[in-house]
Amino acid sequence: MNSPVQDESTPAGDALDLRDPYPYFAARRAESGVSHGTVMDYSRTPESLRPKDSYSAFSYDAVNAALRNSQVFNTALYDSTIGVFMGPTILAMHGARHKAHRGLVSAAFKPQSLLTWEPEIVRPICDALIDEFTERGNADLVREFTFEFPTRVIARLLGLPEEDLPFFRKAAVAIISYAGNVGRALEASKDLQEYFLGHIEQRRSNPTGDIISDLVTAEIDGEKLTDEAIYSFLRLLLPAGLETTYRSSGNLLYLLLKHPDQFAAVQADRRLLTPAIEEGLRYETPLTLVQRYVTEDTELDGVAIPRGAVLDLCLGSANRDENRWERPEEFDIHRRRIPHISFTAGGHTCLGLHLARMETRVALDRLLTRLTGFELKDEGDPHIFGQPFRSPNVLPVTFDVVA
Ligand code: HEM
Repeated sequence: MNSPVQDESTPAGDALDLRDPYPYFAARRAESGVSHGTVMDYSRTPESLRPKDSYSAFSYDAVNAALRNSQVFNTALYDSTIGVFMGPTILAMHGARHKAHRGLVSAAFKPQSLLTWEPEIVRPICDALIDEFTERGNADLVREFTFEFPTRVIARLLGLPEEDLPFFRKAAVAIISYAGNVGRALEASKDLQEYFLGHIEQRRSNPTGDIISDLVTAEIDGEKLTDEAIYSFLRLLLPAGLETTYRSSGNLLYLLLKHPDQFAAVQADRRLLTPAIEEGLRYETPLTLVQRYVTEDTELDGVAIPRGAVLDLCLGSANRDENRWERPEEFDIHRRRIPHISFTAGGHTCLGLHLARMETRVALDRLLTRLTGFELKDEGDPHIFGQPFRSPNVLPVTFDVVA
């Protein structure tokens, strides 16, 4: 199996600790909501893919304001970064074009679909994975559970055969880590294009009720998606759908295991799962940063930003803003709930947020229904790390089976 984690030796920029970037974020917030410079580590990124000038937003208000002003802060820069490998996707579009394409692909994520996906796809996948380690009384929940279930779910939703899982998981990882190996990412992009084109052809002649079939038939005002738009969207869905969900569910499990009283509360009262999921997303944001291109000379939180700059929006920092949350540096599932910004805000708000929440809820619910007495072991030094993607490296646990 591919390693589910990133390389921990990646050098962090400027005093940013990959294990705990939060003191760095707090210090930057204390100075100013917005400042000159980047949070990204571009040391391994080819010159051509590096921004010429960068600014960073750290406060909740600045991040939120920029996300909601797509006229001035748009996503076009993704065309020259991740878009090189994914192709033209809704992530990099803006204005009317984004609205139209998002409308078309949203058809494949209808809220009613979740009602059937939960019992027919997500729950059986989680149960089958738990079956594999139940008798052993121990497991690495990253390798055997959190890394596995979102990949299998997305494969089933797309109607892809299980034996292709290793192929597209490897390709998705190659695309998302393009900065470390551009050649490998381009190759993976081409392989996925050919692979998906085959499936698109098949669904055209024989629709099978999965997301690819929905994309092939989706139509608004007589307009259909082109093949390029479909396979590019599918190339986006792989990393978008599995990378973030596996990381956020691992973060939540880690946080609960480290806070046994809160773990026990959730195990005793499953209504606490939803607040626990939201607090996990706030406290350990799986994707701590998104970026925007600045389309005109402007000002954000009193700081002048020139046209052409790239703005890093630090979701991880915004989610710990002391001006919005009391005790932001505490993980507390019982806190008064106000919305976090882990799925961003504005026009590009995560399209899969309902699916992600449902998957995480079902995964945790199945674990807690079938197993109990979880204890986190020290093997492999379990800890959350990474930037911009964060999650635990391992989660070695022992447990008992619920009688
Ligand atoms: C906890 C899990 C997830 C997190 C934290 C997350 C986070 C995000 C974020 C931060 C963005 C906005 C990027 C930006 O504004 O630059 C985004 C967009 C998106 N996400 Fe998610 N995501 C998650 C799960 C999913 C899933 C399960 C899917 C689908 C299977 C998905 C599909 C998408 C798509 C298609 C977009 C692009 C929307 C647009 O540009 O209009 N995400 N996600």
